[in-house]
Amino acid sequence: MAKILVTGGTGFIGSHTVVELINEGYEVIVLDNLYNSKEVVLDRIKTITNVRPKFYNCDILDKDGLRKVFSENKIDAVIHYAGYKAVGESVEKPLVYYQNNIAGSLNLYEVMNEFGVKTVVFSSSATVYGDPASLPIKEDFPLSTTNPYGTTKLFNERILEDIYASDNSWSILLLRYFNPIGAHKSGLLGETPIGIPNNLVPYIAQVATGQRDFLRVWGNDFDTVDGTGVRDYIHVVDLALGHIKAIEYALKHKGIEAINLGTGNGYSVLQVRQAFENACKKEIPYKIFDRRAGDIASCYADTTKAKELLKWQAKYGIDEMCQDGWNFSKNNPKGIE
Ligand code: WQD
Repeated sequence: MAKILVTGGTGFIGSHTVVELINEGYEVIVLDNLYNSKEVVLDRIKTITNVRPKFYNCDILDKDGLRKVFSENKIDAVIHYAGYKAVGESVEKPLVYYQNNIAGSLNLYEVMNEFGVKTVVFSSSATVYGDPASLPIKEDFPLSTTNPYGTTKLFNERILEDIYASDNSWSILLLRYFNPIGAHKSGLLGETPIGIPNNLVPYIAQVATGQRDFLRVWGNDFDTVDGTGVRDYIHVVDLALGHIKAIEYALKHKGIEAINLGTGNGYSVLQVRQAFENACKKEIPYKIFDRRAGDIASCYADTTKAKELLKWQAKYGIDEMCQDGWNFSKNNPKGIE
């Protein structure tokens, strides 16, 4: 079975993908600099799969460290998650984001090329669509970004497009995630936000565990079902399984494709709050505040291409996402420590 390098493999989405790759029989190597995650995640992966993947504590800015990984392991494909991902932080520290997410990725692509490894699945984001003119969002929609984080995702897509244009022996998938939430059913893996969570569900979870008094709802004057923002929330396990299909496809086909990984369903802030309240059986108080800068009204995916190309579609609904998310949060109120 193929050997897959997962950069950022101890992170939220990365760790769930590592579990599913091992379940599928792949040999997995994890590379992470542990900036936003803990090595103990690997022990939890072993508890779930009985396999502790080979691990390199390595920063993608360390090119020689990357070369060591590729010289010591015959890697067939790379799933590239490693990168900073906080929108607000990227606005405050653009140089840090461009250095890490662009220069770091360039190091990876250059070292892959040096070792003849030309199959990569890139962790992109629906944020590259900016504020879509219509819904659901298709992969050929115009791309634009409103923050440095989103721009680093767009730049990575452009770089990978130019790499493919220069060498058609590459196989590249640009997977555009919508809003990943939930957790592995074991309750051992889940999201571990640092500081005050930017994202909705981790914040709601901290209200449910008594760490926050109430949810701040950023705006209720959008043109949506109840005035609050609508997003395409996808179970992180569905997202991980989408990567299994993506790797299978990428190992068989040359070319470059952008593919949405979403459910095709949109839920409002208040609908998610209600679903989480039903899951944890606790009240989630909230207060309405002004809109957050840069937030769009609605965003949800057209999932046709993922179904046709990858033979994949999400299967979990919002209730199961919240139940699994709560199952993790109640056992790990401060995330994985
Ligand atoms: C969802 C909705 C908020 C928090 C971001 C990134 C995107 C991706 C997913 C990485 C919005 C509202 C939120 C809160 C709230 N990350 N909200 N109170 O902004 O859709 O996407 O995370 O790839 O790139 O941009 O997700 O969870 O921050 O917000 O009312 O405390 O919840 O206004 O409508 P978002 P989010």
